[in-house]
Amino acid sequence: MERKTPVISPEDLRRQAEIAQYIREFWQNQGVTPVACVETYGCQQNEADSEQIRGILEQCGYGFTDAAEGADLVVINTCAIREHAAQRVFGNVGALVHTKRRHPGQKIFVCGCMMGQPEISARMKNSYAHVDGIFSPHHLWQLPEHLYRVLIRHKKAWAVEDSNGAIAEGLPVVRTNALKAWVSVMYGCNNFCSYCIVPYVRGRERSRLPADILAECRDLIATGYREITLLGQNVNSYGKDLGLGVDFADLLTQIADLPGDFLLRFMTSHPRDASHKLFDTMASRPKIARQFHLPFQSGNDRILKEMNRHYDRAQYLELIDYGRKLMPDIVFTSDVIVGFPGETEEEFEDTVSLIERVRFDALFTFIYSPRPGTPAAKMPDPTPKEEKNRRFDRLLAVQNAISEEKHRAYVGKTVRVLVDGRDGDRLTARTGGGRLVRFEGDDGLIGKFIDVTVTDATTWSLVGAVTM
Ligand code: 5AD
Ligand code: SF4
Repeated sequence: MERKTPVISPEDLRRQAEIAQYIREFWQNQGVTPVACVETYGCQQNEADSEQIRGILEQCGYGFTDAAEGADLVVINTCAIREHAAQRVFGNVGALVHTKRRHPGQKIFVCGCMMGQPEISARMKNSYAHVDGIFSPHHLWQLPEHLYRVLIRHKKAWAVEDSNGAIAEGLPVVRTNALKAWVSVMYGCNNFCSYCIVPYVRGRERSRLPADILAECRDLIATGYREITLLGQNVNSYGKDLGLGVDFADLLTQIADLPGDFLLRFMTSHPRDASHKLFDTMASRPKIARQFHLPFQSGNDRILKEMNRHYDRAQYLELIDYGRKLMPDIVFTSDVIVGFPGETEEEFEDTVSLIERVRFDALFTFIYSPRPGTPAAKMPDPTPKEEKNRRFDRLLAVQNAISEEKHRAYVGKTVRVLVDGRDGDRLTARTGGGRLVRFEGDDGLIGKFIDVTVTDATTWSLVGAVTM
């Protein structure tokens, strides 16, 4: 099979790098080191995109600041997954009118998933006159060109044409953390869950070549990174478009077999494609963290069908049981949506019972948010908001009790953790399963894998002491 995914050509990427160099000189000629503020909403994929945005901006000569006030450039990287996040973006972009008034040279870009929604990008373009440019995720790699238009040509830059997406290899990155790195292995999603906007704004599934991913991971390990999280909307589909006979489990094996002391994580998995082979691979490689984020979304078969998820409750539970049989210490986390259109009280109770049956270590609970353009947004939704809120609160209470019990069970045990920083008078660290542990210790431990004995627990974190 031929590789189906379009790839941005090296010449096109070189052209962007040349424009970046031109912008750098433009600033140098003025004797100014410009600063940029990049603000990120939403998921890890967006965090990873923002690291590329910073990489490109650094090429263009920019330094960085956390504050929009006084910045020469503000980039707002948006999230479209729920309405609440979208509203916050409109509020915050609106407020930039004032920062721009105080610093008239300030340029403002809005990008990310919201800019992949035509009606939203049109609203941004038409109603927010202080915004200089917008671009969807498909047009990120052309940022030097957008910036050139705005900064040098004094024009607006609108880059939101729809596309199935392509792969741009070798973009520069400025990583925010010196120990933990995100590595995208694929982009886009083909699943079209009926509630989800992602496939519309991020295009079709497309995988990076294993050799490119391995080279990036090798580099990260050599630079001292201790944790690598492989990212994709649906990592289990990795490789299907490449035709190389390499699936996600094979890729994990190849990375886990790289020399060095590091921990490998991945997200997100779709239960439809999560294979036994993937669990077998995890069990066979100690460098692969025993944490599995496996969103179930609903515990009811009718709702799962309406959501277009292509698995049922029994299949989901079978996967959980298989993973636990193989690795009794595996940590499962998940996403769930309450109040999907037409969800009845009994159907909601199936979700509660699934949570009680699986006993996740952590759960991300969302109230259904209609996304214009998705099939679910057209479904009748008679359940009142108050009722949905009640269901949400009930799920939270059930899960919090489970999380606390699960955390209590750690007390007295010794766990291996990666020490990742300091919060006040305690060091912070994560277990292989992703649980947060706080304990007293020296800054010299940051960046090391050590053993910690757990002495106490709360719903959210563990307290420990360094094991001598
Ligand atoms: N409403 C509420 N939650 C949603 N998610 C995705 N789309 C929606 C929506 N329209 C949740 C899913 C997904 C997580 C990233 O966000 O649970 O797994
Ligand atoms: Fe959205 Fe479903 Fe794709 Fe996840 S798998 S990004 S929920 S469409």
